[in-house]
Formats: sequence, C-alpha cells, structure tokens
Amino acid sequence: MSPRDSSEELFAGTYGAKDFDRPAAELSHFPESGMAGETAYLLMHDVLQLDGSTGLNLASFVTTWMDDHATKIVTEALGKNHIDHEEYPAAHRIEEICVRLLADLWNAPGHLDPVGVGTIGSSEAIMLGLLAHKWSWRARQEAAGRPIDKPNVVYGAETHVVWDKFARYFDVEARRVPMSSDRFVIDVADVRERVDENTIAVGAVLGTTFIGQVDPIPSLNDMCADIKASEGWDIPIHVDAASGGFVAPFSEPELQWDFRLEHVRSINASGHKYGLVYPGVGWLVFKDREFLPADLVFNVNYLGAGQPTYTLNFSRGSAMIQAQLYSFLRLGREGYARIVRNMLGNAEYLSERLAGMGRFRMLNDRLPEPVVTFTFAGDPGFDEFALAERLRSDGWIMPAYTLPPNAQDTKLLRVVVKERLSRTLVDALLDDIDKAWTELSANPPTPRPPGADEHPRPC
Ligand SMILES: Cc1ncc(COP(=O)(O)O)c(C=O)c1O
Repeated sequence: MSPRDSSEELFAGTYGAKDFDRPAAELSHFPESGMAGETAYLLMHDVLQLDGSTGLNLASFVTTWMDDHATKIVTEALGKNHIDHEEYPAAHRIEEICVRLLADLWNAPGHLDPVGVGTIGSSEAIMLGLLAHKWSWRARQEAAGRPIDKPNVVYGAETHVVWDKFARYFDVEARRVPMSSDRFVIDVADVRERVDENTIAVGAVLGTTFIGQVDPIPSLNDMCADIKASEGWDIPIHVDAASGGFVAPFSEPELQWDFRLEHVRSINASGHKYGLVYPGVGWLVFKDREFLPADLVFNVNYLGAGQPTYTLNFSRGSAMIQAQLYSFLRLGREGYARIVRNMLGNAEYLSERLAGMGRFRMLNDRLPEPVVTFTFAGDPGFDEFALAERLRSDGWIMPAYTLPPNAQDTKLLRVVVKERLSRTLVDALLDDIDKAWTELSANPPTPRPPGADEHPRPC
C-alpha cells in the first residue's frame, strides 16, 4: 500500500484526496466504489463554478435568491414528497391555501368556487389548463351532436414554446397568429379570423416571453362575448401570466386581465419567477370548479385515504410550494408591491439610459413588466449576438435572439430585471455595455455565417 493510499481517509475532503488527480472523463462509467462525502462535495462544488453567476443572469425570469428563513423552510421540507397527501396533510393544505390566495389576488368573483393546483412551473400549468378546456369543448360538442375530431387553439407567436408543445402533444391544431414587424402582441381581428366552433380556448399572455408586453386581454374578452352572443360558442380565455401574474396585481391593480373578465376561465403563473420562489413551482387556477372536468381528476388510494390529483407528474418535492406560502406571508401585498416597484424603477432607468446612448432602439416603450428589450438603431459593423457574447466575458448573461415570423428580421437583446439587479448593478451593466461597444467598434468580429442567428426561443 502506498503512503498516499494509507492516509486517504485522513485527507478526505481536502485537495490531497486521490480523486482530484483523475480526469472527469472517468465519470462516463458508473463508479465502482464511493468516495468520502466531503471529497465528493468539494469536487462537485468546484466543477459547478463553471456555471454562470446566478446574480448576473439577466436571461432567465427565474428567482435566484430567497432569504435565510425561506431556505430553512425549504431545507426542512426536502424529504417530503408532495403527493403523499395522507402522510403530509399540512403540506397539502398549504397548496390549497396558496390556490385560494391566488384566486383572491386574481379577483375571482366571491360567489364562485375557484380550484387549482401547484405544478412544477407554468409549462405544466398551461398544458393542464388547456387540456381541461379541450375536455369541456369535447363534452359541449358531444352534447350538441357535433364532431369532436378537429379541436384547435388560437394564440399568438409571442407565446412561450409550451403552447406549441401543448398543441403537438395533445393533438390540437395550433392556430398561431404571426407577429408583424412592428407589432409584437396579438391583434384581436387576427384572432377573430381564426376562431370557430372547434376552438377549445384562446390564449393571451400577460408579460410576453419575447418582449415583456401584454396581449389585449379586455378586447379579447369582448370578442369572446360577442361570439357567444352571435354564434353561441362559449370560448374560454386562458391567460398565461407566467411572469405578469405576480407583477400586474401589485403595479397596476386596476388593469383588467384576470377573473374579473367573464371569459378568462383559467390562469397560470410561475411561482418561481416574480412569485419570488426558487425553481420548481407554478400555479394553475380555474375561476370555478365547473371549468375543471371531473373525469380529469384521478383519485388514488394507494397512499392511504383517497386523494384527488390533477397533475402530469405524480411525485414531486413539497419544498417550493411551502416556500411559496412563506413568501406570501413574509411579504404580503405591500412587500410584493415594494419589490415590483424597485424592479420596474430599475428597468425604466436602464431603458432610459440605453435609449440615451443613441445606439439602441427600445422595443417596449411602456414597461408593464421589468423586462427591457432593445435592438441596434444602426449598423455598427457587429450585431446583437456579438455584443451579448462580448458581455459574457464580463460575467453578464444577456441573451440575443430573433423574433418569430413575421418579425424574424429583428435581432434583439433582453434584460430581465429581477430583484437582485440593484441600481448599482444596473450602472455597472451600462458601463460594461459602453465598454464592450467601444471595443467591438474598434475591432469588429468576423460576421456570423448565414443561419447562425436562428437562435432558440428565449425561455
Ligand atoms: C409567458 C411564459 N409562459 C410560460 C413560460 C414557461 O414557464 P416555466 O418555465 O415556469 O415552465 C415562460 C417562461 O419564461 C413564459 O415567459
């Protein structure tokens, strides 16, 4: 036995352990033997430093900070499987309470009986919401003796990719309204042209993924009401409030987008975006129990007493649902409103300063969301992708992408202003943008090959 082997135990968790002089390539095979926990931790901790910094991640909407009390709640809940309602009734009750609080926040009329569910994120919530509308549409069609083989869903190109996923996975025709080169939300007349008796739902977004704008939800509601009166088709609106569901109620409580509108029957939001919880929680709320068909709710009894479930997943962690209630209790309306005000203030400041540089054209003139999107005002000899790449070397993660058809010629940059992006950091970002611009202008990079800008959609 070599001296190093004999003292291996003693040096576990130090850089003297043998595991530090082995290439990571060995991890292509399942390890034969284990290693000391401290050593495994050090190894992984150091490798994970290669990730971008969460605080400088301006790309994602997802929360990157919670306070110590939230972390405690999360840590205490780590071993709880949320589906074990019988075993963890208090945890399940917290989900029900969150649904009730959200129905209240989104102005469900008092005489109705809202129901909902905690999901992994908005994607699962949107799929479940639209699936329920497909079921209700089919029941209506069957009752009227009409065909049920051609359901469609109408939404705009400004929506998140999950809307396309729903259409493909659940066999529903996607009637997508394209963007135009100067309009990045849906137009009601375009939606009207596409709906018919087979439309299971119309989709509207509060805080679009691409630009952070808001679809004309009250006008869509009026359109649905007119159609109901003239054609008898009762078309529901599902509002994708992934980010806006936790912004508008605090920044513009008078904005009509939610359950106050007759045809808005379901809403999703991401607790892990402006709901201020770490990744892993989304919400789906139906305005009334009647909009969730009973035969979609499964009852299982193999975990104890019978329990209803309407989710795509079965097992899931309970921690983030509990963290959601923690944030509601900790902040209340007043606390969320203060955070939203700070974020919007910083976003407006960033937007004004960028516009003032004379190099950029801002794409969202009004900021309903703390999201700043901009494109180049002229041709400086490099493009938005080059600027994004250059800023990466300063640590900033700011995505460049192109808009969907028919605005695909627009290349843009997006900054999602989250609570951690303080005014001090915004100033640092502006300085770095200025520095990067000067450097790129003096030394333009080789132009990107054609097609290289076909970038994945932002998330
Ligand atoms: C408008 C919109 N809808 C849905 C989603 C998907 O949300 P999640 O990541 O919570 O599944 C996003 C993500 O950014 C979004 O912006």
